[in-house]
Amino acid sequence: MNKPSFDFKTAEDAVRGIDLSSQNILITGCASGLGRETLRALSRRGASIIALARTRAAAQQALDNVGARGTAVACDLADLQSVAKAVEAVLALGIKLDAIVASAGMMAGRSLEKRNGVELQFQVNYLGHFALINGLLDALRDGGGRVVIVSSDAALKQAPKEGIRFDDLSGDRSYKVFTFYGQSKLALGIYAAELSRRLAARKIDVNSLHPGAVRGTALNRSLTFPLNLVLKVAALFMKSVEQGAATQTFLAGNPGARGTTGRYWVDCHVATGSKYLDDRAMAQRLWDVSSRLVAQSSDELTAR
Ligand SMILES: NC(=O)c1ccc[n+]([C@@H]2O[C@H](COP(=O)([O-])OP(=O)(O)OC[C@H]3O[C@@H](n4cnc5c(N)ncnc54)[C@H](OP(=O)(O)O)[C@@H]3O)[C@@H](O)[C@H]2O)c1
Repeated sequence: MNKPSFDFKTAEDAVRGIDLSSQNILITGCASGLGRETLRALSRRGASIIALARTRAAAQQALDNVGARGTAVACDLADLQSVAKAVEAVLALGIKLDAIVASAGMMAGRSLEKRNGVELQFQVNYLGHFALINGLLDALRDGGGRVVIVSSDAALKQAPKEGIRFDDLSGDRSYKVFTFYGQSKLALGIYAAELSRRLAARKIDVNSLHPGAVRGTALNRSLTFPLNLVLKVAALFMKSVEQGAATQTFLAGNPGARGTTGRYWVDCHVATGSKYLDDRAMAQRLWDVSSRLVAQSSDELTAR
């Protein structure tokens, strides 16, 4: 199979000269790091941005900082009730979404935290996005809509060797922060592959990506000594935020990316991801478990 590849170095490069003034693009995690740079690059080309951040004020600030057109929506991915409200708010806009960029993400501290019965990184990075994107599927534009999922090479390098640990999603049996970060990013990649199959008939492209190792974002804020010191030195060899946001901006806004779906991208090239991205049985199981977790939480809210 041919592997599409493009040579864009920065987010701005990735959409240079492209008119996006007719496009509505939703971005999570838009208040900092790669999400903020993606917002900046896409809005410069005229896109209207549905900006999602943990608070509405943070999302509005992200829009105002660059004079972007769009709507600010609060969405705390750790809280499925907040996610459901965000879905309602976006659907109430009555617009078609040309692209969704799932850029929000977190790396936890050393001690185990849980939400909704699962480990926090799995909840925020994966399950919150699963609930959000699935809630918005009817609003995605048929024939050309795009879903861009920011995964990581941690899905290859740090996730459990056996793939998703369905028997310990809470982390109660054994918790290692980087293993669970990797697992959350693997879950995102598997979800992207499964969603691409489910949306193929609607001609909506779904891809996941690794942005590279990027300095100057807030992702590593929980790192403690000595890892924070190691990171300071490693930062000399890492990408800038403008470079790191290139692949997700390209997939969201460049017509050259159209028609490629279900793939894993690095540096604007289709790359080889985890072997589990092709594991349909694992994808089906993950979809079923995730749907159950989301439904359970919505039942609990209704019962309150
Ligand atoms: N930087 C890298 O080297 C690297 C490498 C591979 C993959 N990635 C991925 O790239 C994406 C962007 O990360 P980044 O480096 O740009 O880090 P970042 O600056 O920390 O951006 C992540 C964003 O996610 C938001 N977020 C965290 N928890 C949230 C929650 N519960 N609800 C809603 N939003 C939440 C953060 O908002 P708050 O400020 O409110 O917390 C922040 O705006 C992440 O998915 C990350 O896993 C990054």
